[in-house]
Amino acid sequence: MSQYTQEINKRRTFAIISHPDAGKTTLTEKFLLYGGAINLAGSVKGKATARHAVSDWMEIEKERGISVTSSVLQFEYDNYCINILDTPGHQDFSEDTYRTLMAADSAVMVIDASKGVEAQTRKLFKVCVMRNIPIFTFINKMDREARDTFDLLDEIEKELGIATCPVNWPIGSGKGFQGVFDRQKSCIHMFSDTLKGTKEGATKEVSIEDEQQLEAIIGKDAKELLLGEIELLDGASAEFDIDQIQGGKLTPVFFGSALTNFGVELFLKYFLKMTSSPLARTADIGVINPTEKDFSAFVFKIQANMNKAHRDRVAFMRICSGKFQAGMEVKHVQGGRTMRLSQPQQIMASERKMVEEAYAGDIIGVFDPGIFSIGDTLCMSNETFKYEGIPTFAPEHFARVRQIDTMKRKQFMKGITQIAQEGAIQIFQEYNTGMEEIIVGVVGVLQFEVLKYRLENEYNVEIRMENLPYEHIRWIDNKHEVDIAKLVGTSDMKRIKDLKDNSLLLFIHAWSVGMTLERNKGLILSEFGKN
Ligand code: G4P
Repeated sequence: MSQYTQEINKRRTFAIISHPDAGKTTLTEKFLLYGGAINLAGSVKGKATARHAVSDWMEIEKERGISVTSSVLQFEYDNYCINILDTPGHQDFSEDTYRTLMAADSAVMVIDASKGVEAQTRKLFKVCVMRNIPIFTFINKMDREARDTFDLLDEIEKELGIATCPVNWPIGSGKGFQGVFDRQKSCIHMFSDTLKGTKEGATKEVSIEDEQQLEAIIGKDAKELLLGEIELLDGASAEFDIDQIQGGKLTPVFFGSALTNFGVELFLKYFLKMTSSPLARTADIGVINPTEKDFSAFVFKIQANMNKAHRDRVAFMRICSGKFQAGMEVKHVQGGRTMRLSQPQQIMASERKMVEEAYAGDIIGVFDPGIFSIGDTLCMSNETFKYEGIPTFAPEHFARVRQIDTMKRKQFMKGITQIAQEGAIQIFQEYNTGMEEIIVGVVGVLQFEVLKYRLENEYNVEIRMENLPYEHIRWIDNKHEVDIAKLVGTSDMKRIKDLKDNSLLLFIHAWSVGMTLERNKGLILSEFGKN
């Protein structure tokens, strides 16, 4: 195997999805304990931690103590090169959060054991399912009182529609948490509060057939409960099937406590074995394998204005095949020209670091003078192909936006169009009128503030925003077969257009979507816009 194929085979690129406060940051930090962090791109955010947001490119971030942009971490562990893509949560949830998942090959879903499946996990999960990527579940905070384990698994199966296969099984929770039973190795990992250290709890190889020894270690009640649960589990849960896992149909489930660093390394070890090296990606000329010699990549995120003095942007791309070398000539397919990627970096914001070489599976950021758009392809100059586009994700908040000074219409339109081009917001117009009325749609409400701030600071335009009550947007998939003007809608339905003249529908209530479908036979609505 060539050194180059080895480099690609050792890479694992994944995103962590969770609802805020489930423990994503804590888990990520514990991962970093096991490998020397090579690159820290952006932030591992933390209200209390000093390592807050390297990407302090915007005042809003500083004021709020959150990071608006998603980031990438790279570290090595056990001969693997791991890229973790951070998916911003809290109020900074935005389309970038979704897009980041387009660059990942698998996802780790962190669930709070006392809460179960929560809203944001559900949303992000949908995107993983759309891509059929493997999903690994880490049920966190077992050191606190947890919900019944079977109930938690049941909820994941019912709410998310994915079969579960526990790889380990908790022995108690909260004060009674004793550790986990490793179903594959048939041994017990005893919980010890390793908060200050970096070591996992001691592993005791206890066969569950040796009931006496088991009882001596975990006590009679815990033993009986465990044996009963294992019997139930062996009979009822889905069997471990690596193909089903890799196809995103079955999620392996692990239990642990990130804060006390229990179950984290155990998880990491299994995860690295079960997950695959960079996946092949589909382009218009067919499937492109990561080990193909020639470099190719696609842009999944554009971050604007990291330096306020210059209106510069950084385009983040996922390398899909081959090797990237600084200074190499590549073709920007959508722009139709050959170029040298300038200032390639593997690190964002103030801790940027130049990249000399990177391989399929890695993420790099390059200086963007305003030529890239989300979804663009880069490849070798003697080739021309395009990777499948990145879908437009449904915004959930809408506002009508006007510039206060009518003389500044031109700057307003320029600013708002550029910001939309970066993918931070989506802009729409009324169905019948011209561009006079602009409707802005965002995935996370913080983007409204970002928009206002940027229009004022970068384009010198003040705006007035009027929030609209709509929460559900649908693209019309079969637009050529449907006369939108004649659709029989509900009273809370609004017709709008995007800049490409596609018709869309806005609804206040979720049930109106179903009602409209019922009233208009043959109408096909979609939650994702295809680019
Ligand atoms: P997030 O990135 O998913 O939003 O969650 P984060 O890791 O920031 O964790 C949220 C809170 O939950 C933090 O407490 C964190 O210490 C705690 N936590 C994470 N993992 C565990 C765990 O395994 N067990 C317990 N008991 N707590 C856990 P906080 O008080 O909100 O923040 P901080 O003051 O500790 O930073």
